[in-house]
This record gives sequence, C-alpha cells and structure tokens, in this order.
Amino acid sequence: LSESNQYCEATSGYGGEIGCGVSGPKILIKGGTVVNAHHQEIADVYVEDGIIAAVQPNIKVGDDVTVLDATGKFVMPGGIDPHTHLAMKCLDTETIDDFFSGQAAALAGGTTMHIDFVIPVAGSLSAGFEAYEKKAKKACMDYGFHMTITKWDEVVSREMEIMVKEKGINSFKFFMAYKGILMINDEILLEGLKKCKSLGALAMVHAENGDAVFEGQKRMIELGITGPEGHALSRPPVLEGEATARAIRLADFVNAPLYVVHVMSIDAMEEITRARKSGQKVIGEPIVSGLVLDESALWDPDFNIASRQESLNPICYTNECIIMYVMSPPIRAAGHGKALQAALSTGVLQGFLDPPLWVAPPCTLLESLRILQLVGTDHCTFNSTQKAFGINDFRKIPNGVNGIEERMHLIWDTLVESGQISVTDYVRLTSTECARIFNIYPRKGAILVGSDADIIILNPNSSFEISASSHHSRSDTNVYEGRRGKGKVEVTVAGGKIVWQNDELKVTPGVGRYVEMPPFNYLFSGIDKADAKYLSSLHAPVNRNKATR
Ligand code: URP
Ligand code: ZN
Ligand code: ZN
Ligand code: ZN
Repeated sequence: LSESNQYCEATSGYGGEIGCGVSGPKILIKGGTVVNAHHQEIADVYVEDGIIAAVQPNIKVGDDVTVLDATGKFVMPGGIDPHTHLAMKCLDTETIDDFFSGQAAALAGGTTMHIDFVIPVAGSLSAGFEAYEKKAKKACMDYGFHMTITKWDEVVSREMEIMVKEKGINSFKFFMAYKGILMINDEILLEGLKKCKSLGALAMVHAENGDAVFEGQKRMIELGITGPEGHALSRPPVLEGEATARAIRLADFVNAPLYVVHVMSIDAMEEITRARKSGQKVIGEPIVSGLVLDESALWDPDFNIASRQESLNPICYTNECIIMYVMSPPIRAAGHGKALQAALSTGVLQGFLDPPLWVAPPCTLLESLRILQLVGTDHCTFNSTQKAFGINDFRKIPNGVNGIEERMHLIWDTLVESGQISVTDYVRLTSTECARIFNIYPRKGAILVGSDADIIILNPNSSFEISASSHHSRSDTNVYEGRRGKGKVEVTVAGGKIVWQNDELKVTPGVGRYVEMPPFNYLFSGIDKADAKYLSSLHAPVNRNKATR
C-alpha cells in the first residue's frame, strides 16, 4: 500500500491550513511513477489550490483541469536546497543572484524551496531578519531562513529566542572560519550550542580552522603565491578535518545535535562517520560542487583551452579561469568527491543495509544509518567581474560557486544514473531529508495528500546540458560549463502552479511564501533522557569518575 493517504511520520511542522481558500489551477499529473523517500508506485497526482489533493491510480477529472502526461517519467517532490546565499553582501560586493533570479534558476532546475542564511546587521539578528524579509519580497518560490551568529552577548542570546519563538527560524550557523569577518571562537560556539539546544534549534557549523587558514594565507603570500591556486593551498583538508572534529566534540560535550555544512573533504567526512557510529546526532551536508567537481582544473594547462567559450566573458576562460572555482572550503582533489558520493549511499554499519537484513525496518532507522543524508548547493554566485576583484590577491576573491539550478540534474546523473543510489534515495537526498531535518515534513518533501504541491516531472530518457549561455542565474559563468548528462526535469510545479515546462519559465515575483520552521526536529528526541542519565550519574558519588560529559 502506498503512503498516499497517510503520512509516513507525523511532525509538528505540518499545519493543514496552508493553501486552503487560495484558489489555484487544477492540475492532474497522469500515469507517472510517483516517488517518495520510502516508496514508489505508478499513480496519478491531483493538485488543487496549491495542495496535493489525491494520489491514486486512474483519477478522473473534468475539462477545467490541466492534464500533464507523465507516462514513463518520475513524479517527485520538488527539490529543497538547504544551503543558499541569495543577495548576500560579501567583501565590498553582493552575490549576483537575488531572491528572484536565484529562485527562478532553482525552479528551472527542479528545486522548489531553499533555505537561505540571514547575516545579522551590525550583530543584530532582528535587523538582519528584517533586511532579509525585504530582500525576499520578490520571491517566486517558497523559502526559509537559517540565522548566522557572529558575536555573543545577552542581546544575541535573547534574540535567538525571538527568532525561534516568533520568526520561524530553527537553525543557527556558526562560522569557525573567515577570521575578522564572521568567525567566532570556541567560547561562543559553546554558548551557541547550549542556547540552540535549549531552544530546540539546530546548530550548524562552517568547519574550517580560521586561525590556521589565516596563517596559511600569510604563508602563500610570503611565497609569492597570490593567484587563485593560493586559495586552495592556504586551507587544506586537514584544517576542515580539525574544525569538524572540534565542533563535533564540543557538541558532544554539551549533548547538542550538530549540522556540518558544506562537507568537502574525506577528513571532515571521517569525523562525521566516527561520531555517527558512536550514536552522536551529527548531520553532514555535502554540496554538489564538492561531489562532482575537483581541483584538477587548477593544475591542468589544457583546461583553459578546453573550456574556452568565445561567446562568454573571456576573463573566466583565460589563465585565471580557475578564479570562478574559488569557494570555501575549497573544491578538493578528485578522491574527496568520490568518497563523499559513496558516503551518501553507504551506511555506518557496513552490511546492515543489504536487503536480507532490512526487510521493512522503520524508515527512520534506515535513514539514520547513512553517513551523509542530504545534498545542498551553497549557491553563492559572483560574476567574472566580481571574481576578478581578487585576480592579484586570492584573499580578495569573493567566495562561492553556483549550483541551485544544477543540483537536481547533477545528482541524478552522478548518483542515480551511475547506480550508486535508487530513485527513492534520490528523493530523500534532494528533498525529504531536508524537510525532516528542518521540521517541515510532510508539508514539504513528499508527494502525499495534504502536502504542498511542489512537484517535478523528471524524464530519465531525456538529457541536460549546462551552460552559462542558457542557465537562469545572472552570473556570466557556470562552474559546470559544458556538462551533459541523463535525466531532465521537464516540468516544475511550485505552490500548485506550473512554473517550468517546455524549457520555459513562468515565474511571478512576490508569490513565494516564507515557510516557518518549528523547533525540536527528530534529532532532539532522546536528548533530555541522555541529559537526565548524565546528571544522575553525577549525583551518585561512586560513579563520578565514570561520568563522560
Ligand atoms: O565559499 C562559500 N562557501 N561562500 C559562501 C559562504 C559560506 O561559507 O557558506
Ligand atoms: Zn560556509
Ligand atoms: Zn519516513
Ligand atoms: Zn554557504
């Protein structure tokens, strides 16, 4: 039996009132393979007023309904990107994609919701939130916010409470790098972890050792290495591994769940694996650039010629072309991406996932055994002119690459086409798990009755090709330039409306809704019991030496 008329897991995140009373087009998606994270079946999907109203075979409808034939295709929840930076100020500039262009690009690539990082204004979370509310007024698809913590005092602590209780934020990001700009120290991280835990909010870390990166940058400049390759050389994987390990241990020390953003290296991934094996609640988020790109372009003299595109801005395809690859943590040597791909398909308990042993285990158990659970993009785009600010000093290159439009295609081609993951896994990694972690499942992340009608139709027999000349981002470069692959998102339905079809976008600024995300996601279950056990161990004098935290 399908999950079509019942939710797999009840969560506090779902408020059935969404979309009620809003009249929207009626759409019937006929004959496709409907895929959820735990199940797939051939069925029709009927959409009314922005909500999925029915999922079952042979739905009959009247003439007022738009019918889309999905025979031979996959009908899946729209992608949710947990990690983007739209209209973000950086150094003396701002990302080229704002909440309209970035979201339009997302919709063209099958992503129907994203969670963006609010940067405080002069340390004020409320001012930052207001600024991002304004930026997002032109939104053409649904979005949520994470909040960034850049300093610590009583006001910040109090504002975190307001963010969670009144503003629909359930996650806070701490930068362990970007010294002198966004970086916080261990003391602030500890305060933040404790506060997050008390609010039921998820602490997120950008894990690189910022002091050591600073040292690495000095070293490169002293050696006369000022070009973009100095960026990668100044912040090697060991610095990502160190910070990941430190964040994980501090989170363990205070028994708080932790989410490590943009996991780019084996070094970081191994720390996450170790923690998860020991039962710690740690989520690792690889991003599409870290999975499919590698740094070989930095060292390959032919790369520049191979990727030269006369029609595009020449600066990106000259000797400095690698400047467009610059992001933090850096894109690594090839083996890292392959290992991260494997970590998305393998579990921490080797062998457990072999079919004979997992005849219908509870889905949450199966999911929690994976090393890495979801994929983001860290979409943070600058055009070639902006990137060129740092042409003579890699420290001045605005950091970030594109991906919001490409993620769904590249993950399909790299992981599903290659046989590394199943189609249901694909839905879990690109949509469902993000909805679960940020506590908005099953409103988002599922093709179920009552869920928001954010749906894609993917044709596995069609193909895609990526180019800056045809993408929807405002950037004049694309780090995936020239990539082709199998599987194409032919239709995107967002908020119950067809917004992408026949390679055409029909998007309206202002229709995107802010999605409030409630605290206390599934990672928080059992946290209080573990704390109580620890406390009682302290009260029994005999056990004092045995206390582990
Ligand atoms: O290079 C990156 N990743 N830019 C965006 C900011 C961040 O660290 O996530
Ligand atoms: Zn970061
Ligand atoms: Zn489930
Ligand atoms: Zn980021």
